[in-house]
Amino acid sequence: MIKFKSSEITPEKIYKNRRNFIKNLGLATGSLYLSTTSYGLSSSTDENELRNQITAYNDITTYNNYYEFGTQKADPHKNSENFKTDPWSVTIEGAVQKKITLSMDDINKLFATEERVYRLRCVEGWSMVIPWNGFPLKNLLSKVEPLGKAKFISFETIYDPEQMVGQRYPILKWPYVEGLRIDEAMHPLTFMVTGLYGKDLPNQNGSPIRLMVPWKYGFKSAKAIVKIKFLEKMPKSSWMIASPREYGFYSNVNPNVDHPRWSQATERVIGTGIWTPRIKTLMFNGYADEVAQLYSGMDLKKYF
Ligand code: MTE
Repeated sequence: MIKFKSSEITPEKIYKNRRNFIKNLGLATGSLYLSTTSYGLSSSTDENELRNQITAYNDITTYNNYYEFGTQKADPHKNSENFKTDPWSVTIEGAVQKKITLSMDDINKLFATEERVYRLRCVEGWSMVIPWNGFPLKNLLSKVEPLGKAKFISFETIYDPEQMVGQRYPILKWPYVEGLRIDEAMHPLTFMVTGLYGKDLPNQNGSPIRLMVPWKYGFKSAKAIVKIKFLEKMPKSSWMIASPREYGFYSNVNPNVDHPRWSQATERVIGTGIWTPRIKTLMFNGYADEVAQLYSGMDLKKYF
């Protein structure tokens, strides 16, 4: 794991977004001090240091979940090497005035990219801090006119069992589908990712384009997206179909709502040694100030 020093690890062209990062860290630190009065000051400080360290490129790109390429953490890196991501296009359809299809060339021309350093908290109980490159999803969605009845959006990964060995087995319902409410999709934090560490997005991380919703468990952030659909009704995600008791539609990071088989109160920081203590998981993964109002009045135990 690399300790954050902008001059060492950040390519020059993304310096300008450094201030966003510092702002994010500030937010996380603030809520941590409020929520951990039982911790001694030194352990809070250690915990903050761990929480704010950018994960090493090697860990981000060799420890992955991408069931289309296998269920072991090392499989996506090994099995996605020859995955073809060019040509590629993304279609936006469903409850819209006029559907559109954009090639990756169109997308790269239309949307200027920026860097966002976001924490990724996996539902399995581990986390990373990743410097993503991409653009807000709302910029892409603004290219279509949704119909008034549209309330939800689904995201579909490519279906290509010839290239994706995992899709030859019924591990999940393929293609991988995820969904958001429209207001969640339009939120300024919701990001379409096309790179990381200032480089092209590696295949194992979802090349050429994937979603990143930092306040939700990592599985919401679908990889290798080819289809985005505006919908009247809440879509069923692949994980909801696989195990409805364990995986809900919202899947907001919440230390107070356990997974039926394990606690969600703490997380292991990827890249630290086995003796390093787990850190506390923060409400909405540390983004509560920005997103809590999306769920005001909702029972988050019921709508997990
Ligand atoms: N997208 C697809 N298409 N298939 C998957 O298996 N796994 C999800 C998510 N997106 C997954 C996916 C899970 S469980 C996590 S934690 C993140 O991707 C991991 O993203 P990363 O490998 O870039 O860290």
